[in-house]
Amino acid sequence: MSKIITSATNITGKRHRTLPARAIAIEDLRLMARRRLPKVVFDYVDGGADAEVTLNANRAAFDTLTFRPRHAVAVPQCNLQTRVLGRDLALPVLLAPVAYSGLIHTGGELAAAQAASKAGTVYILSTLSGQRIEEIRAGCAGSLWYQVSLLGGREAAEAAIERAKNAGFSALVVTIDSPTNGNRERDLRNGVLELVFQDRLLPKIPFLWQLLARPTWLADFWRNGGMPPLQNVLSPGGGPTPINKIGSILTYQVTVWEDLRWIRACWNGPIVVKGVLTGDDARRAIYEGAGAVVVSNHGGRQLDGVQASLRALPEVVAAVNGEAEVMMDGGVRRGTDVIKAICLGARAVLCGRAYAYGLGAAGEAGVARALAILRSDLDRTLRLLGCESTAMLDRSYVD
Ligand code: FNR
Repeated sequence: MSKIITSATNITGKRHRTLPARAIAIEDLRLMARRRLPKVVFDYVDGGADAEVTLNANRAAFDTLTFRPRHAVAVPQCNLQTRVLGRDLALPVLLAPVAYSGLIHTGGELAAAQAASKAGTVYILSTLSGQRIEEIRAGCAGSLWYQVSLLGGREAAEAAIERAKNAGFSALVVTIDSPTNGNRERDLRNGVLELVFQDRLLPKIPFLWQLLARPTWLADFWRNGGMPPLQNVLSPGGGPTPINKIGSILTYQVTVWEDLRWIRACWNGPIVVKGVLTGDDARRAIYEGAGAVVVSNHGGRQLDGVQASLRALPEVVAAVNGEAEVMMDGGVRRGTDVIKAICLGARAVLCGRAYAYGLGAAGEAGVARALAILRSDLDRTLRLLGCESTAMLDRSYVD
């Protein structure tokens, strides 16, 4: 325990320095984020689509899978390393693309990228970002991937891909599960449409109490200029797209298989297709040139009622048959979850909310704390399982 707290307090965060050290589990960071963020922002991170059936199923799937440990086995050293798309990662957990991270914490994208880099893993920058591709690259030494969305049309996407290439991002993530936005009822009830997409003040008034109830967040947000425009979606005039204008271009965001061809032509690095839930889509992704697929239901934020990602994983692993790398995301909150996914054939997992809660709780220090919690969980779980390396995990360790 003392080791965990020391590693967190060594983090160079200023105002938030001591806060995340008190978090023992990701749930603690979630509660801290709930105390710091306005309801509308916290629910944006925490919520899912419709009745949140898939959101809850993602967690439940991990809870119902049980371990088969090998007892009376000494594990003096644990190896958490994995290799993803030709690069060694210190732990099998990548930071998933999370849109509008700047709402969760000022400079949220760079803060998360820096924490990932210090932990020896990958940060995936969402297209929906208030910080420029080049700014993220300049501020962090680690591996970066860019998640491209067709919001703004093909021209805007090509320009962003070119910039990511020039900045040295090493992989491109193409998300295929978002032809339109999921029906996030919490967002609608909290007035996201009025607060974010409306220029007029009057419709915002019934929802403003949420911001006023979190003066520290509000002062920070205000001091840093409010909601930045989408720096990597250039509008036809050439400037960054203001956030209140994206409502009108949402219809352009559908990505179809044919798009993979021109994306392939303007990006010569690896392509990761995110949002695969069936063996058929996994085969198609490989056919279109994907080097990796992410089994994902977008954290239960898109089509409610699809199965938990962990349940879809074995079908995809079987269909891929070693021809591409398979990762998964959705519901990862503990190191035991990561281990279970690896046992079912994932090379690594992405986490979204687990680090976003840390970001909401305490900026970079909170993301670092989330990663420290997962790392220490992973090490302990391997020892308890009697397995010395994540590379040696297989189905025989789970029921
Ligand atoms: C996301 N996710 C996401 N995915 C994506 O491809 N592009 C994006 O811009 C976003 N934005 C986004 C915002 C927020 C607030 C969340 C929580 C998630 C989905 C994300 O990459 C990932 O698939 C899920 O978060 C995984 O589920 P968990 O780890 O949050 O349970």
